[in-house]
Amino acid sequence: MARILLTSRLPDDALSPIVGHELVMPSSGVPLTTDEVADLARDVDAIVCQLTDRITEAVLACASRLAVVATVSVGYDNLDVEAATRAGVAVCNTPGVLDDTTADLAFALILAASRLLSDSERDLRNGGWTDWRFDGYLGQDVHGATLGLVGYGRIGRAVARRAEGFSMRVLHHARRPTGLQGCVVELDDLLRQADVVSLHVPLTPETRHLIDTRRLALMKPTAVLVNTARGPVVDEEALGAALESGRLFAAGLDVYEHEPTVHPRLLAAPRTVLLPHIGSASFATRTAMARLATSAVAEVLAGGRPPNTVNPEVFGD
Ligand code: DGY
Repeated sequence: MARILLTSRLPDDALSPIVGHELVMPSSGVPLTTDEVADLARDVDAIVCQLTDRITEAVLACASRLAVVATVSVGYDNLDVEAATRAGVAVCNTPGVLDDTTADLAFALILAASRLLSDSERDLRNGGWTDWRFDGYLGQDVHGATLGLVGYGRIGRAVARRAEGFSMRVLHHARRPTGLQGCVVELDDLLRQADVVSLHVPLTPETRHLIDTRRLALMKPTAVLVNTARGPVVDEEALGAALESGRLFAAGLDVYEHEPTVHPRLLAAPRTVLLPHIGSASFATRTAMARLATSAVAEVLAGGRPPNTVNPEVFGD
């Protein structure tokens, strides 16, 4: 029997793969600090964590018997993978099971930002809808527009499938040219052509502030930017300025540079839809993600090599 730290409560359906092991769970529902995780990690064999838990080199240094960390997220920028690999700790994530749910939300943001749903609903709730105006709340059409996907992994492709139903022209840019229809080799070219830009890249040193002042200036003044990937991919200060000045038409954001803090310029920006990182937040998908994470932990503890290991080199040949 191994000891497994669960940094937050998981749905009962997700616990069956680790039945029989000793589970260590925080008593309160409050997220753990990094120091608390480090303390609890001292004598566990596995950790199932959330994207808000930072599994740093210092945490790993405390965890002498740790074999595996599974984050209940597809993004794993919360973990120091290099340090884990050096320590011989497998790192697992939850790819695949959240693609459609996240793509649904990206598409919701495309529609909501393009058609000014937040501004118009806010006015209605605040009593600001006093008369119907022919020129009120004019947005941009989504149907027939050109969608530029930055990142063309599973989630980007799921957004592309939805765009077909709206008769959109779909372009994509990926780190390595895909050779597929709609591939634009230079990101700057895609930004110049797209009416809607939707971000689907992981956060890495190369993608931090990928969308900065210079790149925002390449976009059409009628364009809409949607981010369901990771906040730091966009320079929020630059985005706030572009929205304020009308240099960019609208934005739909689910992720932020310093969650849960949202840049005050974005909070005040017009034509901006802001959501609290809910891309994968459906009952079914969150349960599937948690179950994928616990299954990976069980497999590593049983001597296996789960396919959703991001550093398979820890298993040797
Ligand atoms: C992820 O999985 O990385 C999403 O951001 C949250 O589900």
